[in-house]
Amino acid sequence: MASKKLLLLPGDGIGPEAMAEVRKIIAYMNAELDSEFVLDEGLVGGSAYDAHGAAISEADMAKALAADAVLFGAVGGPKWDRVPYDVRPEAGLLRLRKDMELFANLRPAICYPALADSSSLKKDVVEGLDILIVRELTGGVYFGEPKEIRDLGNGQKRGIDTQVYDTYEIERISGVAFELARTRANKVTSMEKRNVMKSGVLWNEVVTATHKAKYSDVKLEHMLADAGGMQLVRWPKQFDVIVTDNLFGDMLSDIAAMLTGSLGMLPSASLGAPDAKTGSRKALYEPVHGSAPDIAGTGAANPIAMIASFAMCLRYSFNMIAEADRLEAAIAGVLDDGIRTGDIMSEGKIKVGTVEMGDAILAKFKALAA
Ligand code: IPM
Ligand code: MG
Repeated sequence: MASKKLLLLPGDGIGPEAMAEVRKIIAYMNAELDSEFVLDEGLVGGSAYDAHGAAISEADMAKALAADAVLFGAVGGPKWDRVPYDVRPEAGLLRLRKDMELFANLRPAICYPALADSSSLKKDVVEGLDILIVRELTGGVYFGEPKEIRDLGNGQKRGIDTQVYDTYEIERISGVAFELARTRANKVTSMEKRNVMKSGVLWNEVVTATHKAKYSDVKLEHMLADAGGMQLVRWPKQFDVIVTDNLFGDMLSDIAAMLTGSLGMLPSASLGAPDAKTGSRKALYEPVHGSAPDIAGTGAANPIAMIASFAMCLRYSFNMIAEADRLEAAIAGVLDDGIRTGDIMSEGKIKVGTVEMGDAILAKFKALAA
């Protein structure tokens, strides 16, 4: 792959501010490292609704499908709280995930040494933490049909969401988890609620069978998802890779984020299946944090999750492992230097805004390249 087509979808709230810091890194990489990123840009979420009356336009959807990778900021905000459900900002993100078939969502929760004091948990519980949540992203209760509010005609309504998983969906997501575990501490914990949900019974069966058939060298453990949430805050270092469905993964990854000190620290990668011929896969990279409308426009947002999402893009979409390692080391180095945005600020450290944090990471990234 010579030129690398990147579509930037900054979105709403702090999304554009965080994305601006990634742009600086890309500009440097193109100018100094001949990285050949070709950038295009589109609208998603509330900003797309304001411009097109849709959470993402067909033209931008087509660009996303044609790109080598998509970088996504954040969507939503109080301004769009009352727009129709089908075109609410989140619908843009869900459509991207569904139409690009991004079934595997990787959410690493790494506690940087410098931030072990920032977590609401005790330092010894989170210090050195390195876990990876693999969340199924295109199935389950977020997409299952029927999905509606039904009028029962007796003054009552019924809200319906459908949790549904087929064998192949569980097979492919657990395969991703087992493969990734092999590159790490070689352990997978699968979480479901087989004690009350049929989809949980099937989940457990299929993960067990996939393990037996292809990955018996990896240590596999099963946990009920509620107990898993408890264990995540009790002793998170017991985990290596956690594989779970769309809904539980959404919740458990927010819990895991706080172990690292702030939601502003967590990147994610959403991947499709590798193409049988080329091996390349559709991919979208986004910070786990939302649009944070309360601080949008104040220059206070933490751009680290967005920059770390770009590092994941270098790693998973472009196989630029050295550059990804270096960008992650730059983030760790800046934190070691005591530089902090407000969300991770602690006594005696240097408080900076979004732009200064981005500049500091870029300077460190350059220094590490020299
Ligand atoms: C996430 C978010 C999304 C989700 C929303 C914005 C649709 O919470 O990526 O975790 O529910 O998946
Ligand atoms: Mg979420």
